[in-house]
Amino acid sequence: MVKAVRVHKLGGPEVLTYEDVELAEPGPGEVRIRNHAIGLNFTDCYFRTGLYKAPALPFIVGHEGAGEVVAVGSGVTGFHPGDRVAYYLNLGAYTTERNAPADRLVKLPDFITYEQAAVLMLKGLTTFYLLHKTFAVGPGHRILIHAAAGGVGSLACQWAKALGATVIGTAGSREKADLALANGCDHVILYREEDVAARVKQISRGELCDVVYDGVGKDTFQGSLKSLKRRGLFVSFGNASGPVPPFNLAELNTHGSLFATRPKLADHIVTRAELIEGADALFAAVISGTLHIPINRAYALKDAAKAHTDLESRITTGASVLKP
Ligand SMILES: NC(=O)c1ccc[n+]([C@@H]2O[C@H](COP(=O)([O-])OP(=O)(O)OC[C@H]3O[C@@H](n4cnc5c(N)ncnc54)[C@H](OP(=O)(O)O)[C@@H]3O)[C@@H](O)[C@H]2O)c1
Repeated sequence: MVKAVRVHKLGGPEVLTYEDVELAEPGPGEVRIRNHAIGLNFTDCYFRTGLYKAPALPFIVGHEGAGEVVAVGSGVTGFHPGDRVAYYLNLGAYTTERNAPADRLVKLPDFITYEQAAVLMLKGLTTFYLLHKTFAVGPGHRILIHAAAGGVGSLACQWAKALGATVIGTAGSREKADLALANGCDHVILYREEDVAARVKQISRGELCDVVYDGVGKDTFQGSLKSLKRRGLFVSFGNASGPVPPFNLAELNTHGSLFATRPKLADHIVTRAELIEGADALFAAVISGTLHIPINRAYALKDAAKAHTDLESRITTGASVLKP
């Protein structure tokens, strides 16, 4: 038996149930991992509420974690008990121990802690593909990143600044705005008080942005479109305020022949080579000092409901981890 946080029926944070769960021996090609840290993600909330569909009930919540290998299944080469590893996988992370396919694991360099790795696998890899694959951010670009003091936002602002872009962030409070500035934002818009597009226009002297990264969704979508320059790219990668409502495709035309994409990590980190490329880039960014991993809160795994409540109440900043 292991301890895990499962969802038996969809709903609010109260449906997260900390309980004993059977865990089989690792199958062929699998390893068993004892989690030392698990990443907390808004995506976990979408699965809990049913906005994103889990294949079946009950399911173990969570997508990213890091720990040590405690057993290996048949046919596994290259991984041994004691190895420090991390993973991004669809569900199954909120647990003391789990099995995982060996080919989806990344070995951790000594200088990366379990806590850092547990944050880098989903939030970090997402930041990697958004800034390098969805749009290759570089010098001369002006970009807008919503929720700049959040988990993905704080990583994205740091990295985008290091890539040479002018970074405009949005934040929900003055305290978060200060964090966003510390994360490398050149300008921060208090989007609960200010008109985002008007401020972007003012900041950019009318030139607007090359790309907008929008993980907030419903509340920010219109302002995002209006903040883009002609032929700019709208990247809608999340729904913290709710999903973007259906809209008329012609709006992309009205706002200046815009491009739009709704990307997800599973389509950008598909092959093992892509996983290793992304992880290596992240580890290099940490060792070079480009990326500081802001782990601002740690919760006991059994307190996952409190962690979800805090995340959805906009209390958290940066990244949070769950500790088994
Ligand atoms: N597509 C992908 O591949 C992918 C992968 C990973 C994550 N994501 C998405 O990235 C986004 C950020 O994820 P995260 O885990 O790092 O979360 P997070 O940014 O740490 O938390 C979400 C933030 O969104 C802001 N927000 C705005 N309106 C909100 C509302 N009505 N309710 C709650 N929060 C609101 C809050 O910041 P303020 O208080 O500053 O407004 C809040 O802190 C999420 O939408 C997530 O789904 C997408």
